[in-house]
Amino acid sequence: MEAKKDIVLSGIRATGQLHLGNYYGALSKFVRMQEEGKYENFFFVADFHALTTNPDPEALHANVKSIIAEYLAAGLDPEKSTIFVQSDVPEIPEMYLLLNMHVGIGELMRTASFKDKARKMLGIGADAEQSDDNIEREIIGNNSNKRVNAGLLTYPSLMAVDILIHKAKYVPVGKDQEQHLEMTRRFARRFNAFYGVELFPEPQNFDFGGAPVKVPGLDGSGKMGKSEGNCIYLLDDEKTLSKKVMRAVTDGGPQEPNSPMTEPIKNLFTLLKLVSEPEVVKHFSDAYADCSIRYGDLKKQIAEDILKVTLPIRERILAIQNDDAYIARVLRQGAERARASASATLREMRQIMGIRPF
Ligand code: TRP
Repeated sequence: MEAKKDIVLSGIRATGQLHLGNYYGALSKFVRMQEEGKYENFFFVADFHALTTNPDPEALHANVKSIIAEYLAAGLDPEKSTIFVQSDVPEIPEMYLLLNMHVGIGELMRTASFKDKARKMLGIGADAEQSDDNIEREIIGNNSNKRVNAGLLTYPSLMAVDILIHKAKYVPVGKDQEQHLEMTRRFARRFNAFYGVELFPEPQNFDFGGAPVKVPGLDGSGKMGKSEGNCIYLLDDEKTLSKKVMRAVTDGGPQEPNSPMTEPIKNLFTLLKLVSEPEVVKHFSDAYADCSIRYGDLKKQIAEDILKVTLPIRERILAIQNDDAYIARVLRQGAERARASASATLREMRQIMGIRPF
């Protein structure tokens, strides 16, 4: 019998177009795992998760479509990977109900991502001197018309279900998802121990070794995110992209040889290292060290080299987005395969929990 391949699964929340951070942090890794050829791969768009922050229905639908097109354009291949939309798998909400019977509201309320988003929903500043205890009291005692929805609270249960329903072993995700993954392992262990079974393996994060890629934003601080001006989208056209890079925050320039770099300049060099050849990086590093650097030239180079990566992908995204029949075909096939795998796990889970046919 052929040995079963280890299962790889990951997803991206459908909250907007993908940016360079999503590309280097997630999508390019998905493609690489697919190309290794030694895993069974599941990659999906998490639209239920996007609903936890109440997006506009039109925007949600458009975002699902663009992420699917972006997956395909970046090289995910429906013949090699199961590519699907979370909401096309009705086994997921059913298992979410079952798993929630073994998840504590306390542990959910203590989740970092929940507290952050709950703070935002209640209009409490993230920087406020609020202790975590106060946040919990704030949520429970809140009687304004602002609401922290139950879907947001159970975000980690739903994510655990995405993973456990396919018995995934490897889940390539960024550092910000580490706590959710840890919770998934805990839920898996707990379920197995409670029923004395070995249904769920404990999933691990995955990277290919080397330092984790952190794609910085263009506004001089932090990582690339969706905030305006900080972010380069795979779908940005040449003009938009160049303009954004040329406007990136810099400083007054090095005043003496071998000065340390300020944060915004470090960020530009991080981008340069991601997209440019080593000789090019060396050229600009040397120029910085001997104070001959011109930030305009540096930015021009970065923009040019980013475009080499993104423009071909952009062309493919646009073509795929125009082909609704192709997208529908890919998703129909993906849903079918995802459901086959999901329903097998759900059947076992129901049986174990005592939900059995007569
Ligand atoms: N929470 C993930 C994020 O925001 C998206 C996600 C949902 C996910 N379910 C998942 C990632 C399952 C990996 C596996 O990026």
